[in-house]
Amino acid sequence: MDHIHLLCIIIFATHAPLASSSNSFHFDQSDTHLSVNANDILVIDHKPTSPFVFIGSGSVTTRSQYGNYRIDDFDESRVPLQKFSVGKQEIGEGGVVKTRVTFSVTGCDEKGDVAVDFVSSPDSMYAEFVAVPHGFNRLWIRLHAEEGEKVYGGGEQFTFFDMRGRTFPLWVQEQGVGRNKSSLITLLSNNRDNGGGDYYTTYWAQPTFLSSRKYYAHFTTTSYSEFNFRFDDFHEVYILSGSPGKIHFFTGPSYVDLVGQFTAFQGRQPPIPEWVYNGVVLGLQGGTERMLHYLKMAQDNDIKVSAVWIQDWSGRIRTSFGRRIFWNWQWDPNHYPGLDKVIADLKTKGIQVLVYTNLNLNQEGNLFKEAEQLGYLILNKDGNSYRLDYGEFICGIVDITNPKAAQWYKDRIIKKNMIELGISGWMADFGEYLPTDAYFSNGKSGMDLHNEWPTLWAQINREGVEEAGMLGEILYWMRAGFSGSQRYGVMTWAGDQFVDFSLSDGIASVIPAALSLGISGFGLFHFDIGGFTSLFNYTRTEELMFRYGEMAAFTTMMRTHEGNRPDDNLQFYSNERTLSQLACHTQIFHALNRYRHAVVEENSVRGIPVQRPLFLHYESDPRSYSVQYQYMFGPDLLVAPVYEAGVETWDVYLPPDDWVFMWDETITSMGDETVTVEAPIGMIPVFYRRESQWADLFRDVRDVRNKLYSDVDNGYCSRDKPCP
Ligand SMILES: *[C@@H]1O[C@H](CO)[C@@H](O)[C@H](O)[C@H]1NC(C)=O
Ligand SMILES: *[C@@H]1O[C@H](CO)[C@@H](O)[C@H](O)[C@H]1NC(C)=O
Repeated sequence: MDHIHLLCIIIFATHAPLASSSNSFHFDQSDTHLSVNANDILVIDHKPTSPFVFIGSGSVTTRSQYGNYRIDDFDESRVPLQKFSVGKQEIGEGGVVKTRVTFSVTGCDEKGDVAVDFVSSPDSMYAEFVAVPHGFNRLWIRLHAEEGEKVYGGGEQFTFFDMRGRTFPLWVQEQGVGRNKSSLITLLSNNRDNGGGDYYTTYWAQPTFLSSRKYYAHFTTTSYSEFNFRFDDFHEVYILSGSPGKIHFFTGPSYVDLVGQFTAFQGRQPPIPEWVYNGVVLGLQGGTERMLHYLKMAQDNDIKVSAVWIQDWSGRIRTSFGRRIFWNWQWDPNHYPGLDKVIADLKTKGIQVLVYTNLNLNQEGNLFKEAEQLGYLILNKDGNSYRLDYGEFICGIVDITNPKAAQWYKDRIIKKNMIELGISGWMADFGEYLPTDAYFSNGKSGMDLHNEWPTLWAQINREGVEEAGMLGEILYWMRAGFSGSQRYGVMTWAGDQFVDFSLSDGIASVIPAALSLGISGFGLFHFDIGGFTSLFNYTRTEELMFRYGEMAAFTTMMRTHEGNRPDDNLQFYSNERTLSQLACHTQIFHALNRYRHAVVEENSVRGIPVQRPLFLHYESDPRSYSVQYQYMFGPDLLVAPVYEAGVETWDVYLPPDDWVFMWDETITSMGDETVTVEAPIGMIPVFYRRESQWADLFRDVRDVRNKLYSDVDNGYCSRDKPCP
């Protein structure tokens, strides 16, 4: 630990603006009061009654079942550090300016001093905790807050896009089934396996927030942490660690600029492979013959298909949750005879084949045995392979903190078993279940690695693809994530929505999920068309499938999934209506491609997410800050998906602009109002900006859709015959 030389004399306020630097901290102090501005934004307002930092000690126990965690944290002490002293400003090379501020209980030369370096340079600005006294293993940090301020981010938040007014534990885990303590499904899920979840449970937690006071705060810790946004005049961040790391601040003239700065710092995603634009990825399974059968059926019914995704390429097993995959990541030629030739043949016809993998290996498989012999699995306290129950089957977990094990996974599974077979992508599943009591090659604890694990998992995928020279051609998609996943991921999906219209876990929840993830730096997103989790006799309705499908056409990528209980649930191939609806949705998707290209490019080059909250483009419109179930698809399309059952009209909030209804140009608005539009199935409420350079394309898309729907003569969803 650094030894701290305290300057007990009050130091002059360091107000001098620094010409060499575009970033600077400004300190304003009295005897008891210290305020810190990051550029012109007040971020810290320290006073004896509300200090910047508290330190404490305590103990934590965690319990988990199937990726659902219970964290019992017991605080033994919480000490406010009321005194402070601001050190001398040091000016280093390259415009780096550093000021050390020491916080303590009673003043000088205490053992309890916390030293924080405020460092600014032309391209960054952060507060780094350089010394926390021994014996303390947790901190609370307060940042200034104001009335009416809103905060967004936190990784992927499915229930509340604006996080103000609530506490958000930041811990990577299963998102839960139901996710609302007062819903029946949540209750049933909790009774089943404690898997009900809550408003904050998410696969992708991240200690980052964007404030409507136009700044980002990003915490570099990987430990368990909590954002507490319940207070009027401060935000409190709890970090369960004695080494809290840094808080990065970003300020800027606009939100577009801010998200650009943040993604420049975190890393941005490359453009998606060209083949993704061809149409929908069809989630199919059950062997070569079945896959080809449904592919043909789709094509015969004018569904535009980019790829077939066979998650059970490695074989399968059966459990009470439904059919599960045999987690042994290699082609099972008994289940998929002739797959290698089929892949090559389909590729010549412009259809890709995609598979599935994760970091776990079923102990019944040859890859488990191989990895165990090589010493590449994570260990339990007895020094044996850690074996985790994934729901009636037991797995070991590849220890990717060991560079040799990571290389083995890349060489053996990613390059040899998948890429050499000719496949073009995979679902890179899981990343949330890392046990906190396991032992790892790099010596870190499970508590410290748990949140970071999905980032390491993304890194393995990225490196495997890059080592094969296939970046930009292969698409892997992940649901788990954390800080750093922005740099390594190429696509994310929303995970396992319940097959219903609930706000907390149904179709609606994927909208705030996309928005919060975009603000957290990941701008490419998609979801399972129709939802995934079917339990307690709930199954997909046609209406739910079609509402998902029509929304998917206005996102980056379309993909179907048969769900966890394929036989009980409606599929795109179930009947003529399901086929014709998907055909329409994929053709609308396809017709939008030139615009989609431009928007995806903006994400790669400028870090502006494909799906954007309204306030990103309408900063001066106060109402835009509270909209969480509508989004901008790029700069020019406003999408207001229908997320309720049994409706035929829909209210759409339009910020001030010159808007044209996508499907009928006689319906227009100058915005700053809520309009009600017809919204039968097949007619998702979308408006475009009249001034858009893409207006001609949007009119073409309208014509494509209107023709398709007048051709659909199954009595469903034509403009003349709205849905029942
Ligand atoms: C949670 O469920 C209750 C009861 O069904 C409902 O009234 C409420 O709106 C739900 N909240 C969210 C955020 O989904
Ligand atoms: C689901 O349906 C079966 C058969 O009708 C019934 O026995 C079971 O109790 C139902 N389960 C729930 C959770 O309602």
